[in-house]
Amino acid sequence: MTEKSIIVDLPDSVELVDGPSGLSLLRLSTPVATGELYLQGAHISAWAPAGEAEVIWMSKASMLAPAQPLRGGVPICFPWFGPGRDSSMSPVHGYARLADWPLASAEDVDGTVTLVLRLTDADVAGLPGAEKWQHPFELTYRVSFGLELAVALTVRNTGTEEFVFEEALHTYIAIGDIHRVRIEGLGGSQYLDRAPDAPTERVTQIGSVTFTGETDRLYYSASPASVIDIAGGRRITVASDGSANTVVWNPWITKAAAMADYGAEEWREMVCLEAANALESAVTLNPGAEHTMSAQYAVDHSI
Ligand code: BG6
Repeated sequence: MTEKSIIVDLPDSVELVDGPSGLSLLRLSTPVATGELYLQGAHISAWAPAGEAEVIWMSKASMLAPAQPLRGGVPICFPWFGPGRDSSMSPVHGYARLADWPLASAEDVDGTVTLVLRLTDADVAGLPGAEKWQHPFELTYRVSFGLELAVALTVRNTGTEEFVFEEALHTYIAIGDIHRVRIEGLGGSQYLDRAPDAPTERVTQIGSVTFTGETDRLYYSASPASVIDIAGGRRITVASDGSANTVVWNPWITKAAAMADYGAEEWREMVCLEAANALESAVTLNPGAEHTMSAQYAVDHSI
């Protein structure tokens, strides 16, 4: 646990615990919601409104080690998405998810807990990939665990030259059975299919998204989208602002089997629905300027 991570007072509903491998974990429980967030990556690993089953999926086989990506939760992808705009960047999804994010504040207002974490270029020095994107920046991540989960990522250019970045809130949603899931809200929008051997031209989505194999799509849509989880008997809606893209991902059988941090059959229990600004939608920030991408997650039973 790093000293700089724990300088703020925590409300009684929030505790800071030593998670696996000494990773610092904030755990909260109120009459309104429960949740968890690892300071590494400012990584939400749990959230549920009171009375609901867990909404955020975490792999039981996730690596939980310093500077290693966690599998599941809400990884923050920054300053590039996937392998980046020219497909050459590593580590995949940038280095923000590997960094230890200092906690700036924590408060509980009527059972909704809001955490603010802040990361600067000084905090990422030495991390894998940090030398590939070296601009001065400040990220502010505001997370409210309540009846809804509300997150907002603000990127500020603290340097003297413009920079370009990609970003995503790579949210893993817990579902009952991927074979009995559809995603509503993306019909009519175009997408780039990033699955192996897929055509390189954009495709138009007809109706709801359903899953019959590896699915890795970048939609050119920021409309609200809902995961309809028939087996789980619920709808999880994601509404975002400040994003141009929605990513939908499930690795399916072969890709999941090739990843050490997926347990057997775990691919059936998750789907990623991600607010993003990637590829052509990368954001350009002038010196002193800032950009916020936010997302709100809500659960209901109207399926
Ligand atoms: C998705 C990408 O967002 O994240 C996929 O579209 C990628 O291509 C997936 O495989 C998982 O990435 P990672 O680095 O967490 O295994």
